[in-house]
Amino acid sequence: MHTPGRLLLAGALALAAAACTRQAPAGTAAADTGEVTVACGATEEWCAAHTAAFTAATGVKAEFVRLSSGDALTRIQAGRADPEFDVWHGGPADGYAAAAGQGLLEPYVSPGAAAIPARYKDPSGAWTGVYVGVLGFCANTEVLAEKGVASPTSWQALLDPALSRNIGIAHPLTSGTAFTALWTQVVLNGGDTRAALRYMRKLHPNVLQYSKSGAAPAQQVARGEVGVGVVFSHDCVATREQGFPHLESTFPAEGTGYEVGGVALVKGAHNPVSARAYVDWALTPAAQEIGPSVRSYQVPTNPRAKISGHTVDLKTVRLVDYDIAGAGTAKPALTREFDATVAQAPR
Ligand code: F6P
Repeated sequence: MHTPGRLLLAGALALAAAACTRQAPAGTAAADTGEVTVACGATEEWCAAHTAAFTAATGVKAEFVRLSSGDALTRIQAGRADPEFDVWHGGPADGYAAAAGQGLLEPYVSPGAAAIPARYKDPSGAWTGVYVGVLGFCANTEVLAEKGVASPTSWQALLDPALSRNIGIAHPLTSGTAFTALWTQVVLNGGDTRAALRYMRKLHPNVLQYSKSGAAPAQQVARGEVGVGVVFSHDCVATREQGFPHLESTFPAEGTGYEVGGVALVKGAHNPVSARAYVDWALTPAAQEIGPSVRSYQVPTNPRAKISGHTVDLKTVRLVDYDIAGAGTAKPALTREFDATVAQAPR
């Protein structure tokens, strides 16, 4: 059944699609070819489903490249003079905050942003949130049973010597998930980045390897290569569903970080009209209800979007006060320091 809101939205999208053959708004660099290229930070399946649904809804062609958060930032930086992407969609907003701080994003307050709670969007419109994901632990209960170790329920438990080389976590230089873990330690240590890096150095002997993408450790856990992964809980749930019932998702009692997955316009984009239409669409309930069809169970930011039964209830997890803007400012230097003083440390 079509609600009046849906009809209005369909009208708006049709107008946006028609506008794609027109000139770009005043002050923007280029005319619009009616296509959009997306730097996409969630799973490959999520990116494919979203770009296809956007094209189906608007007639605007959309292509994407799946990139982890740090890689997306690097590619957007590299394209400063001649952007490769029109839109950045998915991936934690602290990466967007870092990009905004470097003048790489075009502020845009979509009409649809009014529906998104203030805590899930940048006040100046640099980025707007499309989903929320909670950082947690993904345990292989069979591997842990062999070691006589319980599924971890605290950050301290990850330091257990019985878990030597048995933790999977990504590298925060590339992965937004891993940067969320690093910034969570900063928050849990009252803003002290030194203390956060000290914790990561203590964890280092237990880490098998630092993967590039944030969800990869869930696969390592499923294969039994490690006993525990530090991942967004929805990536553990999705992997469990792929035929690994011995995976268990747990959360640290001290508190855990979370991501607000973003969407934003790239500054100087070649297709600014299509890019705006994409952002408008990404904030709609229809777009935010796509995730579960491709086993992506993040919490939608649009309160009108239906929530899957597989999605974590944010009220049941102790979340830290995650300062996205502060995390974004700190991200470039902190991730370089992590690389030099943690990832490359001998063990
Ligand atoms: O796998 C999906 C996801 O967890 C998203 O929720 C998140 O934004 C993204 O991956 C982070 O990816 P990465 O850690 O590789 O930057």
